[in-house]
Amino acid sequence: MRVLGIETSCDETGIALYDTDAGLLGSALHSQVQMHSEYGGVVPELASRDHVNRVLPLTHQVFEQAGCLPESIDAIAYTRGPGLVGALMVGAAMAGGLGYTWRKPVVPVHHLEGHILSPLLSANKPAFPFVALLCSGGHTQLLAVKSFGHYALLGETLDDAAGEAFDKSAKLLGLGYPGGPALARLADAYRLDEHHKDWAIQLPRPMMHSRDAEFSFSGLKTAVAITVQRLGKQYPEAPWRSALAHEVQAAITDVLIAKSVLALKLTGLKRLVISGGVSANRRLREGLQAQAQTTGFEVFFPELSLCTDNGAMIALAGAMRLQHGAKATTDFSVAPRWPLEDLG
Ligand code: KG4
Ligand code: ZN
Repeated sequence: MRVLGIETSCDETGIALYDTDAGLLGSALHSQVQMHSEYGGVVPELASRDHVNRVLPLTHQVFEQAGCLPESIDAIAYTRGPGLVGALMVGAAMAGGLGYTWRKPVVPVHHLEGHILSPLLSANKPAFPFVALLCSGGHTQLLAVKSFGHYALLGETLDDAAGEAFDKSAKLLGLGYPGGPALARLADAYRLDEHHKDWAIQLPRPMMHSRDAEFSFSGLKTAVAITVQRLGKQYPEAPWRSALAHEVQAAITDVLIAKSVLALKLTGLKRLVISGGVSANRRLREGLQAQAQTTGFEVFFPELSLCTDNGAMIALAGAMRLQHGAKATTDFSVAPRWPLEDLG
């Protein structure tokens, strides 16, 4: 089965062609980060308008890359939600229009299901059941995934998401928007600096020892803000910024690792699947791999290019939905808020 995936839920237009036998045939992505960075965050109306301009050229590009024609596909999958309403509507309208023109069935996909399944596009694929840690810019959730489509929420963030904590801390450090990857780079550079002074920066690990699978990251940005103010006054020129970035990254990833291990213990499961933008983080990946060896579980990640939003995960989730009996839709409504548990 061959499926075209269309992702437009936020600030990335992602298009891909996935074949259940041959794998990923082609993919294209346009990130709007540069456009939004001027405003320090995503401007929904600008996002929608940009998706309108990008979807068709990227679709042509993907078919060309794959060396096939629209006649050869079996279905079109699009992100129905959650996300920005206007941005989602662009993908839904495009999927509906292309489905009508090409006479192909259209299947709606849950964005977070796409993320959770994205490690299935890696060479090392997880089998069900598993615990999923979904950590993106908008979500931080631990789920027990019994089988395809059955998602039981074990716990989630009570306030900010892990990616949001990275981004807000990065902003306080003057690293622009979205600063998660830039903060991670600065943090890793600190590790390599042999001449650093010990700045004695100690941030909290919020809720790390609560015996549940909940998270809370909003206090962290306050602690970062206070530290920036204190050190900025004392040492305007000093290179404490990378020491602070290192501690921010350590605080967030320590909590993610500890809670993932707890979730495995609580469920008795032996496989952990990580996804979402923050799953690209090097310290998180290495920390979980080390834990997996000492504690005795298996850990699975998406390819680095598939951690953030993309069309491939939507095409894959659409194909799996169809294989599990989903019917083509003629209702192209969107769902800006859509609990994952409603899928079961
Ligand atoms: O999954 P995603 O593309 O978008 C949402 O659905 O939210 O995730 C984006 C988030 C941003 O907060 C970004 O800063 C964070 O993922 N991110 C990272 C890294 N790469 C992306 N955070 C930490 N380290 C990274 N290497
Ligand atoms: Zn996402």
